[in-house]
Amino acid sequence: MTTAIDFDRIDARGPAALASLLRRMPKAELHVHVEGTLEPELIFRLAERNRVPLAYPGVEALRAAYAFTDLQSFLDVYYAGAGVLRHEADFFDMAWAYFERAAADNVVHAEVFFDPQTHTERGVPIEAVIVGLHHACQRAHQEFGLSAKLILCFLRHLSEDAAFATLEQALPYRDHFIGVGLDSSERGHPPEKFARVFARARELGLHVVAHAGEEGPPAYIRGALVVLRVERIDHGVRCVEDPALVERLARERVPLTVCPLSNVKLCVFPSLERHNLPALLDAGLVATVNSDDPAYFGGYVNDNFVQTFAALPQLGARHAWQLAANSFEASFAPEADKRRWAAELDRVFAAEP
Ligand code: HPA
Ligand code: ZN
Repeated sequence: MTTAIDFDRIDARGPAALASLLRRMPKAELHVHVEGTLEPELIFRLAERNRVPLAYPGVEALRAAYAFTDLQSFLDVYYAGAGVLRHEADFFDMAWAYFERAAADNVVHAEVFFDPQTHTERGVPIEAVIVGLHHACQRAHQEFGLSAKLILCFLRHLSEDAAFATLEQALPYRDHFIGVGLDSSERGHPPEKFARVFARARELGLHVVAHAGEEGPPAYIRGALVVLRVERIDHGVRCVEDPALVERLARERVPLTVCPLSNVKLCVFPSLERHNLPALLDAGLVATVNSDDPAYFGGYVNDNFVQTFAALPQLGARHAWQLAANSFEASFAPEADKRRWAAELDRVFAAEP
Protein backbone atom coordinates (compact mmCIF):
# COMPACT_ATOMS: atom_id res chain seq x y z
CA MET A 1 0.00 0.00 0.00
CA THR A 2 2.08 2.89 -1.27
CA THR A 3 -0.59 5.23 -2.64
CA ALA A 4 -0.17 7.78 0.17
CA ILE A 5 3.59 8.03 -0.33
CA ASP A 6 4.90 10.82 -2.55
CA PHE A 7 8.37 9.55 -3.44
CA ASP A 8 9.09 12.47 -5.79
CA ARG A 9 8.40 14.99 -3.05
CA ILE A 10 10.77 13.15 -0.69
CA ASP A 11 13.48 13.11 -3.38
CA ALA A 12 12.99 16.84 -4.00
CA ARG A 13 14.11 17.55 -0.41
CA GLY A 14 17.62 16.44 -1.29
CA PRO A 15 20.22 13.88 -0.20
CA ALA A 16 20.43 14.85 3.49
CA ALA A 17 16.69 14.30 3.99
CA LEU A 18 16.90 10.96 2.17
CA ALA A 19 19.85 9.88 4.34
CA SER A 20 17.83 10.73 7.44
CA LEU A 21 14.91 8.65 6.16
CA LEU A 22 17.22 5.71 5.32
CA ARG A 23 18.40 5.76 8.94
CA ARG A 24 14.93 6.09 10.44
CA MET A 25 13.02 3.59 8.31
CA PRO A 26 12.34 0.19 9.88
CA LYS A 27 14.28 -2.63 8.26
CA ALA A 28 15.26 -6.28 8.62
CA GLU A 29 18.89 -7.37 8.50
CA LEU A 30 19.23 -10.80 6.87
CA HIS A 31 22.96 -11.11 6.20
CA VAL A 32 25.21 -10.45 9.16
CA HIS A 33 27.82 -12.85 10.58
CA VAL A 34 27.90 -12.45 14.34
CA GLU A 35 31.65 -13.15 14.35
CA GLY A 36 31.93 -10.28 11.87
CA THR A 37 30.45 -7.87 14.41
CA LEU A 38 33.38 -8.37 16.79
CA GLU A 39 34.86 -4.86 17.05
CA PRO A 40 38.63 -4.52 17.72
CA GLU A 41 37.93 -3.05 21.18
CA LEU A 42 35.93 -6.16 22.15
CA ILE A 43 38.60 -8.45 20.63
CA PHE A 44 41.15 -6.86 22.97
CA ARG A 45 38.82 -6.99 25.97
CA LEU A 46 38.05 -10.69 25.43
CA ALA A 47 41.72 -11.50 24.72
CA GLU A 48 42.60 -10.04 28.11
CA ARG A 49 39.68 -11.72 29.90
CA ASN A 50 40.54 -15.13 28.38
CA ARG A 51 44.34 -14.66 28.35
CA VAL A 52 44.55 -15.22 24.61
CA PRO A 53 47.70 -13.73 23.03
CA LEU A 54 47.12 -11.42 20.05
CA ALA A 55 49.52 -10.77 17.19
CA TYR A 56 48.81 -7.00 17.31
CA PRO A 57 49.97 -4.51 19.96
CA GLY A 58 46.70 -2.58 20.05
CA VAL A 59 43.34 -1.69 18.54
CA GLU A 60 44.78 0.70 15.96
CA ALA A 61 47.35 -1.83 14.70
CA LEU A 62 44.62 -4.44 14.39
CA ARG A 63 42.32 -2.07 12.51
CA ALA A 64 45.21 -1.19 10.20
CA ALA A 65 45.37 -4.88 9.18
CA TYR A 66 41.83 -4.62 7.77
CA ALA A 67 43.01 -4.02 4.19
CA PHE A 68 41.70 -6.91 2.15
CA THR A 69 42.32 -7.92 -1.44
CA ASP A 70 39.72 -10.70 -1.72
CA LEU A 71 37.46 -12.95 0.36
CA GLN A 72 40.26 -15.24 1.56
CA SER A 73 42.46 -12.38 2.75
CA PHE A 74 39.53 -11.25 4.91
CA LEU A 75 38.64 -14.73 6.18
CA ASP A 76 42.20 -15.25 7.49
CA VAL A 77 41.88 -12.14 9.71
CA TYR A 78 38.25 -12.88 10.63
CA TYR A 79 38.98 -16.43 11.87
CA ALA A 80 41.98 -15.15 13.84
CA GLY A 81 39.79 -12.50 15.52
CA ALA A 82 37.22 -15.14 16.50
CA GLY A 83 39.98 -16.97 18.42
CA VAL A 84 39.32 -14.79 21.49
CA LEU A 85 35.82 -16.30 21.91
CA ARG A 86 35.98 -19.08 24.48
CA HIS A 87 33.00 -19.01 26.84
CA GLU A 88 29.24 -18.62 26.70
CA ALA A 89 29.53 -15.07 28.10
CA ASP A 90 31.84 -14.09 25.22
CA PHE A 91 29.25 -15.13 22.64
CA PHE A 92 26.56 -13.30 24.58
CA ASP A 93 28.64 -10.10 24.81
CA MET A 94 29.47 -10.13 21.09
CA ALA A 95 25.86 -10.66 19.99
CA TRP A 96 24.50 -8.17 22.50
CA ALA A 97 26.86 -5.46 21.23
CA TYR A 98 25.53 -6.14 17.72
CA PHE A 99 21.88 -5.97 18.81
CA GLU A 100 22.46 -2.60 20.51
CA ARG A 101 23.84 -1.24 17.25
CA ALA A 102 21.11 -2.87 15.17
CA ALA A 103 18.35 -1.43 17.35
CA ALA A 104 19.95 2.02 17.00
CA ASP A 105 19.77 1.52 13.20
CA ASN A 106 16.02 0.77 13.45
CA VAL A 107 16.50 -2.90 12.63
CA VAL A 108 13.25 -4.53 13.81
CA HIS A 109 14.19 -8.09 12.79
CA ALA A 110 17.61 -9.74 12.38
CA GLU A 111 18.54 -13.19 11.09
CA VAL A 112 22.10 -13.65 12.30
CA PHE A 113 24.63 -16.13 10.93
CA PHE A 114 27.03 -17.97 13.20
CA ASP A 115 29.88 -20.35 12.33
CA PRO A 116 30.01 -23.12 14.99
CA GLN A 117 32.92 -24.90 13.32
CA THR A 118 35.16 -21.85 13.81
CA HIS A 119 34.77 -22.48 17.55
CA THR A 120 34.27 -26.23 17.94
CA GLU A 121 37.51 -26.82 15.98
CA ARG A 122 39.28 -24.89 18.79
CA GLY A 123 37.65 -27.04 21.48
CA VAL A 124 34.81 -24.65 22.42
CA PRO A 125 31.62 -26.63 23.17
CA ILE A 126 28.80 -25.91 20.72
CA GLU A 127 26.52 -25.39 23.73
CA ALA A 128 28.54 -22.32 24.80
CA VAL A 129 28.21 -20.88 21.28
CA ILE A 130 24.50 -21.45 20.77
CA VAL A 131 23.28 -20.77 24.32
CA GLY A 132 25.31 -17.54 24.60
CA LEU A 133 23.96 -16.26 21.28
CA HIS A 134 20.42 -17.39 22.11
CA HIS A 135 20.37 -15.46 25.39
CA ALA A 136 21.42 -12.31 23.53
CA CYS A 137 18.56 -12.89 21.04
CA GLN A 138 16.09 -13.22 23.92
CA ARG A 139 17.33 -10.03 25.56
CA ALA A 140 17.19 -8.10 22.26
CA HIS A 141 13.52 -9.03 22.01
CA GLN A 142 12.82 -8.12 25.63
CA GLU A 143 14.67 -4.79 25.63
CA PHE A 144 14.24 -3.53 22.08
CA GLY A 145 11.31 -5.53 20.68
CA LEU A 146 13.86 -6.62 18.05
CA SER A 147 13.03 -10.11 16.83
CA ALA A 148 16.37 -11.91 16.55
CA LYS A 149 16.90 -15.36 15.05
CA LEU A 150 19.99 -17.48 14.41
CA ILE A 151 21.10 -19.28 11.22
CA LEU A 152 23.83 -21.92 11.60
CA CYS A 153 26.38 -21.74 8.78
CA PHE A 154 28.56 -24.58 7.54
CA LEU A 155 32.11 -23.67 6.51
CA ARG A 156 32.35 -24.67 2.86
CA HIS A 157 36.15 -25.11 2.90
CA LEU A 158 35.56 -28.07 5.27
CA SER A 159 34.00 -31.39 4.26
CA GLU A 160 30.35 -32.32 4.05
CA ASP A 161 31.01 -34.96 6.74
CA ALA A 162 32.19 -32.16 9.05
CA ALA A 163 28.98 -30.25 8.26
CA PHE A 164 26.90 -33.34 9.12
CA ALA A 165 28.76 -33.72 12.43
CA THR A 166 28.11 -30.05 13.23
CA LEU A 167 24.39 -30.40 12.46
CA GLU A 168 24.18 -33.44 14.74
CA GLN A 169 25.96 -31.59 17.56
CA ALA A 170 23.56 -28.68 17.18
CA LEU A 171 20.36 -30.74 17.22
CA PRO A 172 19.90 -30.61 21.02
CA TYR A 173 19.53 -26.82 20.45
CA ARG A 174 17.25 -27.18 17.41
CA ASP A 175 14.79 -24.67 18.89
CA HIS A 176 17.50 -21.99 19.06
CA PHE A 177 18.13 -21.64 15.31
CA ILE A 178 15.77 -21.30 12.35
CA GLY A 179 17.94 -22.39 9.46
CA VAL A 180 21.26 -23.32 7.98
CA GLY A 181 23.55 -21.44 5.60
CA LEU A 182 26.82 -21.91 3.77
CA ASP A 183 29.76 -19.51 4.03
CA SER A 184 33.57 -19.18 3.94
CA SER A 185 35.81 -19.60 0.86
CA GLU A 186 33.50 -19.82 -2.15
CA ARG A 187 35.82 -20.55 -5.07
CA GLY A 188 36.51 -24.27 -5.49
CA HIS A 189 33.71 -25.19 -3.05
CA PRO A 190 30.49 -25.35 -5.11
CA PRO A 191 27.11 -25.81 -3.42
CA GLU A 192 26.78 -29.36 -4.77
CA LYS A 193 29.43 -30.43 -2.22
CA PHE A 194 26.75 -29.97 0.49
CA ALA A 195 23.72 -31.53 -1.25
CA ARG A 196 23.11 -34.27 1.34
CA VAL A 197 23.48 -32.16 4.48
CA PHE A 198 21.15 -29.49 3.07
CA ALA A 199 18.60 -32.22 2.23
CA ARG A 200 18.83 -33.37 5.86
CA ALA A 201 18.40 -29.79 7.12
CA ARG A 202 15.27 -29.39 4.96
CA GLU A 203 13.87 -32.66 6.35
CA LEU A 204 14.35 -31.21 9.83
CA GLY A 205 12.18 -28.25 8.84
CA LEU A 206 15.06 -25.77 8.84
CA HIS A 207 15.18 -22.83 6.46
CA VAL A 208 18.04 -23.04 3.96
CA VAL A 209 20.19 -20.25 2.48
CA ALA A 210 23.67 -20.14 0.92
CA HIS A 211 26.35 -17.64 -0.03
CA ALA A 212 26.69 -17.84 -3.81
CA GLY A 213 27.80 -15.53 -6.58
CA GLU A 214 29.93 -13.26 -4.38
CA GLU A 215 33.24 -14.41 -5.88
CA GLY A 216 31.90 -17.61 -7.40
CA PRO A 217 30.27 -17.80 -10.86
CA PRO A 218 26.52 -17.72 -11.64
CA ALA A 219 26.67 -21.55 -11.86
CA TYR A 220 27.09 -21.56 -8.05
CA ILE A 221 23.84 -19.57 -7.71
CA ARG A 222 22.07 -22.12 -9.91
CA GLY A 223 23.59 -24.96 -7.89
CA ALA A 224 22.36 -23.39 -4.65
CA LEU A 225 18.86 -23.01 -6.11
CA VAL A 226 18.54 -26.35 -7.87
CA VAL A 227 20.59 -28.72 -5.70
CA LEU A 228 20.46 -27.13 -2.23
CA ARG A 229 16.95 -25.69 -2.91
CA VAL A 230 17.77 -22.55 -0.97
CA GLU A 231 15.11 -19.96 -0.16
CA ARG A 232 17.51 -16.99 -0.44
CA ILE A 233 20.87 -16.31 -2.02
CA ASP A 234 23.46 -14.48 0.09
CA HIS A 235 25.26 -11.88 -2.06
CA GLY A 236 24.33 -13.24 -5.52
CA VAL A 237 25.61 -10.09 -7.23
CA ARG A 238 27.29 -12.07 -10.04
CA CYS A 239 23.86 -13.29 -11.23
CA VAL A 240 23.88 -10.40 -13.73
CA GLU A 241 26.40 -12.37 -15.83
CA ASP A 242 23.59 -14.82 -16.66
CA PRO A 243 20.42 -13.03 -17.88
CA ALA A 244 18.33 -16.23 -17.82
CA LEU A 245 19.30 -16.68 -14.17
CA VAL A 246 18.30 -13.08 -13.37
CA GLU A 247 14.95 -13.73 -15.04
CA ARG A 248 14.42 -16.87 -12.95
CA LEU A 249 15.40 -15.19 -9.66
CA ALA A 250 12.98 -12.35 -10.39
CA ARG A 251 10.12 -14.64 -11.47
CA GLU A 252 10.50 -16.92 -8.44
CA ARG A 253 11.10 -13.94 -6.13
CA VAL A 254 14.26 -15.49 -4.70
CA PRO A 255 15.74 -12.77 -2.49
CA LEU A 256 19.37 -11.64 -2.69
CA THR A 257 20.99 -10.38 0.53
CA VAL A 258 23.35 -7.79 -0.92
CA CYS A 259 26.18 -6.27 1.18
CA PRO A 260 27.58 -3.21 -0.63
CA LEU A 261 30.39 -2.16 1.75
CA SER A 262 31.54 -5.79 1.98
CA ASN A 263 31.63 -6.04 -1.80
CA VAL A 264 33.89 -3.00 -2.07
CA LYS A 265 36.19 -4.02 0.81
CA LEU A 266 36.64 -7.49 -0.73
CA CYS A 267 37.17 -6.01 -4.22
CA VAL A 268 34.06 -7.58 -5.77
CA PHE A 269 33.38 -4.04 -7.10
CA PRO A 270 36.05 -1.35 -7.41
CA SER A 271 33.87 1.27 -5.67
CA LEU A 272 30.34 1.86 -4.38
CA GLU A 273 29.79 4.05 -7.46
CA ARG A 274 30.23 0.90 -9.56
CA HIS A 275 28.00 -1.37 -7.46
CA ASN A 276 25.21 -3.11 -9.37
CA LEU A 277 22.45 -2.64 -6.77
CA PRO A 278 20.50 -0.29 -9.09
CA ALA A 279 20.64 -2.89 -11.88
CA LEU A 280 19.46 -5.63 -9.52
CA LEU A 281 16.47 -3.51 -8.46
CA ASP A 282 15.70 -2.49 -12.05
CA ALA A 283 15.62 -6.19 -12.98
CA GLY A 284 12.84 -6.68 -10.42
CA LEU A 285 14.96 -8.76 -8.06
CA VAL A 286 14.05 -8.95 -4.37
CA ALA A 287 17.35 -7.34 -3.34
CA THR A 288 18.05 -6.28 0.24
CA VAL A 289 20.86 -4.25 1.85
CA ASN A 290 22.87 -5.78 4.70
CA SER A 291 26.18 -5.38 6.54
CA ASP A 292 27.83 -8.86 6.32
CA ASP A 293 30.79 -8.28 8.69
CA PRO A 294 30.30 -4.72 9.89
CA ALA A 295 33.26 -4.58 12.31
CA TYR A 296 35.60 -5.40 9.40
CA PHE A 297 33.97 -3.62 6.46
CA GLY A 298 33.51 -0.10 7.81
CA GLY A 299 29.88 0.05 8.79
CA TYR A 300 26.60 -1.33 10.05
CA VAL A 301 23.42 -1.58 8.03
CA ASN A 302 22.57 2.14 8.08
CA ASP A 303 26.11 2.96 6.94
CA ASN A 304 25.56 0.56 4.04
CA PHE A 305 22.30 2.27 3.10
CA VAL A 306 23.54 5.84 3.47
CA GLN A 307 26.90 5.38 1.74
CA THR A 308 25.40 3.35 -1.12
CA PHE A 309 22.66 5.91 -1.80
CA ALA A 310 25.22 8.74 -1.61
CA ALA A 311 27.43 6.98 -4.17
CA LEU A 312 24.57 6.12 -6.54
CA PRO A 313 22.41 9.21 -7.08
CA GLN A 314 19.99 7.26 -9.30
CA LEU A 315 18.77 5.60 -6.07
CA GLY A 316 15.95 7.57 -4.46
CA ALA A 317 13.12 7.31 -1.96
CA ARG A 318 11.24 4.68 -3.95
CA HIS A 319 14.30 2.41 -3.89
CA ALA A 320 14.75 3.00 -0.16
CA TRP A 321 11.14 1.96 0.45
CA GLN A 322 11.53 -1.03 -1.89
CA LEU A 323 14.68 -2.28 -0.16
CA ALA A 324 13.08 -2.11 3.29
CA ALA A 325 9.87 -3.76 1.98
CA ASN A 326 12.02 -6.46 0.36
CA SER A 327 13.82 -7.09 3.66
CA PHE A 328 10.51 -7.93 5.35
CA GLU A 329 9.26 -10.05 2.43
CA ALA A 330 12.58 -11.94 2.29
CA SER A 331 12.68 -12.67 6.03
CA PHE A 332 11.61 -15.92 7.67
CA ALA A 333 9.39 -14.06 10.14
CA PRO A 334 5.69 -14.90 10.61
CA GLU A 335 3.38 -13.26 8.07
CA ALA A 336 1.64 -11.20 10.79
CA ASP A 337 4.99 -9.63 11.78
CA LYS A 338 5.85 -8.94 8.14
CA ARG A 339 2.52 -7.13 7.67
CA ARG A 340 3.03 -5.08 10.84
CA TRP A 341 6.55 -3.97 9.83
CA ALA A 342 5.44 -3.20 6.26
CA ALA A 343 2.60 -1.04 7.62
CA GLU A 344 5.06 0.80 9.89
CA LEU A 345 7.36 1.35 6.90
CA ASP A 346 4.47 2.91 4.96
CA ARG A 347 3.60 5.11 7.96
CA VAL A 348 7.17 6.41 8.22
CA PHE A 349 7.29 7.27 4.50
CA ALA A 350 3.78 8.74 4.41
CA ALA A 351 4.60 10.99 7.40
CA GLU A 352 7.53 12.65 5.57
CA PRO A 353 6.87 16.39 5.14
N1 HPA B 1 31.57 -14.55 2.44
C1 HPA B 1 31.81 -15.80 2.79
N2 HPA B 1 32.00 -16.18 4.04
C2 HPA B 1 31.94 -15.27 5.00
C3 HPA B 1 31.70 -13.94 4.69
C4 HPA B 1 31.49 -13.56 3.35
O1 HPA B 1 31.26 -12.39 2.99
N3 HPA B 1 31.71 -13.29 5.87
C5 HPA B 1 31.94 -14.19 6.84
N4 HPA B 1 32.08 -15.39 6.32
ZN1 ZN C 1 28.39 -13.19 4.35
